[in-house]
Amino acid sequence: MNYYDSNVIKYLDSSIVLNPFFDEWYSIVEEILKHPEFQKRKLFMHHHNLSVWDHSTLVSFKAFMASKYFKADKRVCAIAGLLHDFYSQAWISTPEIEALEDGKYTKAMKEPKPWYKMHGFTHAKDASINYIKYFPHLEDKKITNCILRHMFPLNIIPPRYREGLIITAVDKLNSVHELPSIVYVSKKVIKKTYHILSDVNRI
Ligand SMILES: [Fe+2]
Ligand SMILES: [Fe+2]
Repeated sequence: MNYYDSNVIKYLDSSIVLNPFFDEWYSIVEEILKHPEFQKRKLFMHHHNLSVWDHSTLVSFKAFMASKYFKADKRVCAIAGLLHDFYSQAWISTPEIEALEDGKYTKAMKEPKPWYKMHGFTHAKDASINYIKYFPHLEDKKITNCILRHMFPLNIIPPRYREGLIITAVDKLNSVHELPSIVYVSKKVIKKTYHILSDVNRI
């Protein structure tokens, strides 16, 4: 019988844990799931009520399963799927993430920046660098390209490899499931923009 880390297993979606291919996927990504830096992604909010941990584990497992059908590299799909949103700074502030290492993960969030430096445009590149910082032995041109290009078509250059196309597609499909959360965030963004414009008009 396998030994599963409780910090990992109880935070995975049941659709992953109960799948007959779970052990195969887990043996590929176990070290990432147990890593203290990746564990912190439980506190990074991806959208309203879903963490980066929740989102990334689902994308990784679904990309891994899709790799079997599309005859792609299952290891690349599992690893790049798990690390595709492994950016260094949180983009949604919560009390938990603020408290983590004295605000280290939210410092950049508070700096004013032009639209093209917003999270959606920059986090793929950030993640493609950040994963090598914490997992240098996993550095691989396919994995790097999958992570760097996963925001296609928002970032205009498409993925170079089949595995990257799988991750990009699974990521988008998952985002549709997460639509209620996206609507929630969009409402917050619209509200914040309205307040900023109101302030500007007052000047
Ligand atoms: Fe992303
Ligand atoms: Fe994503």
